[in-house]
Amino acid sequence: MSKVIESVCDEWEELQEDYKQLEINNAAYLKKVEELTKLQDICRKHIAHQKYRLNIMQKNLKGISEDKNTKQMKENIMKREVELQYMEQSLPKKSDRYMLKLILGDIDVSFFTKENKFRYKEDYETFKLISHCVAFTFSLILYFYEFRPLEKFFMGFLVWYYCTISIRESILKVNGSRIKGWWRIHHLLSIVSSGLLLVWPYNEPWKLFRKHFINYTIYSAFIQYLQFKYQKGTLYRLKALGEMQNMDITAEGFHSWMWRGLTFLLPFLFIGYIFQLSNAIILFNLSYLPEASWEVTCLSLIFLTFFLGNSYTTLGVIPMKTKKNMLIRYKILRSKVYDAISETVMGSHRDDEVIVKESSKDS
Ligand code: COA
Repeated sequence: MSKVIESVCDEWEELQEDYKQLEINNAAYLKKVEELTKLQDICRKHIAHQKYRLNIMQKNLKGISEDKNTKQMKENIMKREVELQYMEQSLPKKSDRYMLKLILGDIDVSFFTKENKFRYKEDYETFKLISHCVAFTFSLILYFYEFRPLEKFFMGFLVWYYCTISIRESILKVNGSRIKGWWRIHHLLSIVSSGLLLVWPYNEPWKLFRKHFINYTIYSAFIQYLQFKYQKGTLYRLKALGEMQNMDITAEGFHSWMWRGLTFLLPFLFIGYIFQLSNAIILFNLSYLPEASWEVTCLSLIFLTFFLGNSYTTLGVIPMKTKKNMLIRYKILRSKVYDAISETVMGSHRDDEVIVKESSKDS
């Protein structure tokens, strides 16, 4: 046998040993995946059972006059609901039917760790801010120079932006975000409105509406910056609070910070809604011009819907936020527990890694 063949044979023998270890590890991995899937199903069934029983208990409590025991029981049920919500978030979820399944197909879009969820949400907020900075720049240029190709490019950009955030919001929703249905509808309608602006021909009604629209996009970019500051602050504070010790103080502090942030933001939001109403009225008047195409009427209706939906939803947020929110306390508490669970899971995962590495070293 030539020396080359001999060394290749030796190498093969050595590789065989390594392969045997790989087979063992792979079998262990497959077993764990099987176990994991079974555990996920068991958890899902337990959660569904818990929810069903809690629902019945809540119905039974409804008719009873409120005393100390009833109050305590209601609080226990609420706390359990928050716990179940967090447990549900740790289980993989499938794409929602209407949005993601249609675009991405039937894939699992859930994040297992809280850290990944946090990062995704943070990235979503940053993406919105950057896109609005781009929109602000476009609007500013278009404010001073009327350049039709750039206008069309800007409308195309808006269609792309709203499509992207709608997909991202669906992923956030699947991962347990409490984003209200209206904001998602708002962004889907914004795809339609940007599409209509894109196909709107260059005519007299457009010339008359153009300036109003550009002013509106400049103001929207400014509001988006304020919203970004608020959302980012909430995100960071909740994360930091989850790591603190005294929960009562942290919940109180968070509540007063959030309330201050909101009262600062609200007047600016309502000015934006007035802008939307005035756009609707201007477009409605323009729709009577002989040159007006069907896009004008549609856009007028969409801006009116924005005004009504935004005002109604934002007004609805206020009473919810004025309550000394028990849910905030539980959210922080659960965040601590969730961190502890993740740490245990990651810790045992690291232990397994060490075992596997050591066993491969031994071989
Ligand atoms: N777009 C996307 N997500 C939103 C949102 C919006 N407009 N408003 C709230 N959310 C998200 C929150 O980030 C939170 O997410 P999480 O569960 O992943 O943490 C969830 O929805 C629940 O939020 P909620 O507690 O109801 O409200 P909030 O305190 O976060 O924000 C407002 C309240 C009023 C500040 C916020 O809804 C807002 O900025 N609304 C105005 C939007 C608007 O009008 N845009 C058009 C401007 S012209």
